[in-house]
Amino acid sequence: MSETINLARRLGSGLPPDLVGFLRTAGKSAGEAGQKLYLVGGVVRDLLLGRSNVDLDLVLEGDAIRLAQELASGLQGKMVAHRRFGTASVQWNGWKVDIATARLESYPHPGALPVVRPGSIETDLSRRDFTINAMAVELAPEHYGLLLDRFGGLNDLRNGLVRVLHELSFIDDATRIWRALRYEQRLGFGLEASTLALLKRDVNMLSTVSGDRIRHELELALKEPEPERVLCRAGELGVLARLHPSLKCDDWLVEKFGRSRETQGGTPGVYLALLCYRLGSEETEQLVSYLRPASPLARTLRDTANLKAKLELLTDPTLAPSAIRSLLDGYSLTALAAAQVATDSPLVRERVDLYLRKLRHVKPSLTGDDLKKLGVPPGPGMKEALQALLQARLDGRVTTRREEEDMVKRRTVSSIGTNCPERR
Ligand code: CTP
Repeated sequence: MSETINLARRLGSGLPPDLVGFLRTAGKSAGEAGQKLYLVGGVVRDLLLGRSNVDLDLVLEGDAIRLAQELASGLQGKMVAHRRFGTASVQWNGWKVDIATARLESYPHPGALPVVRPGSIETDLSRRDFTINAMAVELAPEHYGLLLDRFGGLNDLRNGLVRVLHELSFIDDATRIWRALRYEQRLGFGLEASTLALLKRDVNMLSTVSGDRIRHELELALKEPEPERVLCRAGELGVLARLHPSLKCDDWLVEKFGRSRETQGGTPGVYLALLCYRLGSEETEQLVSYLRPASPLARTLRDTANLKAKLELLTDPTLAPSAIRSLLDGYSLTALAAAQVATDSPLVRERVDLYLRKLRHVKPSLTGDDLKKLGVPPGPGMKEALQALLQARLDGRVTTRREEEDMVKRRTVSSIGTNCPERR
């Protein structure tokens, strides 16, 4: 017999008062319209685990857009509707709550986005990815807080298991393979035995999903507190190889991710650049054309591949600061941060660090206008003079504005000298 669990107290202690007030009002308004409203998905899972989560997802057996509109006006907030999907969000005072009409979904073919029709809370929960994400909490005043757990999600939470609801789950939507690894590693859970077998059986279904959707999953994995855990598990199960056969998660990568976290705060962009660091340029291109990342990220990946080839030059002990700057200028900062962590040479690391902290910010005090006043005519000569000033600044040959002016005057005199016909 299933236990009756009421989460009203947990809702009160686990959520900010604004959101608790919202849930109470929303449940009441839905009830007055003869409709049932539920809190669903990740927030229910996290409430039961005592993990903080303010991303509220509500499901209504009824017209979600109408309810969202009513709640938004009551709060003097804003309602944003996605009519095609029967979903809406209510936004007020910096909060945002999503409300969806309960759905019945079917998948026309593997990897396709589902065809959606209105359904009940039961059909809505049964279309979801894992039992731990398929629980709901009633919000109607007379049943407020009652846990609805049709698939044994609470038991799986207690036993630390990620379990699919049915055996076609990964075929319907192979992005769930990445999601399974993400929850497993984030929560310190395990994949339930038959779910693991299904995942291994269906790993080739990842090819039915667009690169855009896979990239989205990868980006979410890279936002986890320790993304290497997800990536290494993905490596172990043949999921990483589906991104690109040359990608690997090994001791090297684990060490570099840890170092990036300690020294740079570990951002998803740097993590991705580190993951791709050991790919060749052609392999990087293959990955970019599969994942189609936004152009700054694509640039970071290309820069990472190109920069790696240049780092060797930074090992020359005689390099002046100006040479370091000209070697590293123009690369994306994310690629540079990744290179700083990835290199095994302390000298290269120190120089990339010097570039990032100091050299890239250096500029002469004098501007083009100042140079004009000192008699330098506009054109290529001006550009060269500014370049020479920058080099002198970087290498410490000039340190004040006065010294820069003297340098320009000296250059002007000597160039008049060399260009003067009578003196040739
Ligand atoms: N969901 C699903 N299948 C997917 C994506 C989402 O069944 N491919 C369902 C799950 O019930 C999930 C809910 O939609 O809980 C909301 O999706 P999302 O916001 O991605 O999940 P959260 O559980 O909120 O994840 P997280 O804690 O990582 O934000």
